[in-house]
Amino acid sequence: MKEWELTSWREREALQQPVYPNVEHLAQVEKSLEKMPPLVFAGEARQLKKALAQVANGQSFLLQGGDCAESFAEFHANNIRDTFKVMLQMAVVLTYAGKCPVVKVGRMAGQFAKPRSAGMEVIDGIELPSYRGDIINGIEFTEQARIPDPERLVQVYNQSASTMNLLRAFAQGGFADLHQVHQWNLDFLNTSPAGDRFHGVAGKIDDALQFMEACGIGPGLGQLKETEFYTSHEALLLPYEQALTRQDSLTGDWYDCSAHMLWIGDRTRQLDGAHVEFLRGVKNPIGVKAGPSMDPEDLVRLCDVLNPDNESGRLNVIVRMGADKVEDGMPKLIQAIQKEGKNVVWSSDPMHGNTVKASTGYKTRRVDDVLKEVQQFFQVHNAEGTYAGGVHFEMTGQNVTECVGGSFEVTEADLADRYHTHCDPRLNADQSLELAFMISETLKKSRA
Ligand code: PEP
Ligand code: CO
Repeated sequence: MKEWELTSWREREALQQPVYPNVEHLAQVEKSLEKMPPLVFAGEARQLKKALAQVANGQSFLLQGGDCAESFAEFHANNIRDTFKVMLQMAVVLTYAGKCPVVKVGRMAGQFAKPRSAGMEVIDGIELPSYRGDIINGIEFTEQARIPDPERLVQVYNQSASTMNLLRAFAQGGFADLHQVHQWNLDFLNTSPAGDRFHGVAGKIDDALQFMEACGIGPGLGQLKETEFYTSHEALLLPYEQALTRQDSLTGDWYDCSAHMLWIGDRTRQLDGAHVEFLRGVKNPIGVKAGPSMDPEDLVRLCDVLNPDNESGRLNVIVRMGADKVEDGMPKLIQAIQKEGKNVVWSSDPMHGNTVKASTGYKTRRVDDVLKEVQQFFQVHNAEGTYAGGVHFEMTGQNVTECVGGSFEVTEADLADRYHTHCDPRLNADQSLELAFMISETLKKSRA
């Protein structure tokens, strides 16, 4: 294999890239991004890799979640806060049941580029290039909006920097203090069964904290006052990723400093493709999506290329088959990986294989299918004797109506009420928390 260079991906075929009308303009933007400060530090990416190695070894659980696509329009401190809150709630529920640490990774502060099944979109006989995420073009169905604009990379960088800043403040500034556990419940959850149940768990945590403090051991435990929260996104738009990739001064290794963790999508995971070439050279923890078409041999080859040292915590296989395909599709992947002795973190994305079209025309997902896929994921791992290491959700802290089901019983007719996503339908806070409770029972059994 040829030696990796920062630009070696440019010699490979890169799928799902926009065609910029003015490549000079793109080059100027790339140059200016190269001068910007990194959004994360190499040491933090290494710390996440260590945390993920614990997941690979069955000692922790991975919770990854956030928007399908972040957007300029929905950028608001409250939205960031609420997604962060729900993730904290879910993590507490999972930690409490599974009696194990939960590694929290947001699809936040950089999740802007979207792969599309069709290059063109047709509405009422008019055909325009598809929307590819706010980092590329606009969602409005006009010719002008759909032209890829390099200035959007700068706006994404700026929005990601301030999102990152707020997330760091939330994680370390007192908001994530376990003593605040009751405050994480969002107002509209106070009338939901999942919200009620959360207060139950929170009450038990309060009791435990008070007991520990009475014994004189609580206050010294700094870990209770803050948390670690990492960021991730699909490394799809390679000029942006390259511009934020830096050589670490401590180790001399390259890190993609646009996020702690990057993943390769199901549509861009070709062994000889540009995305695999780019990510093999950076030392961050990385993920690769595995849909129904993933060939077991290819998955093993991807491990060889992306994780040649078979490092634990480096590679996360994110399985996204669909509720009715896991039982059939996943055992052969697990067996191939086990046979070759590859170290991977297995996680389940129960979203992308379960997208359906509602009778009202909306793209949606049924909470029941989402839960079913996660349960099948656990069952298959139990049967194979491997560890179901985590979950990967498209979710928000907002009270949206994008997925069908949950304790508020969102129906297909309700979807029109608050359907705000810029791409795929997300679980709302209530549905996310309810799922966390259901998964926590499965996790408890599987860890026992
Ligand atoms: C995504 O995670 O938003 C996505 C597009 O996933 P996949 O590559 O699995 O389809
Ligand atoms: Co999506």
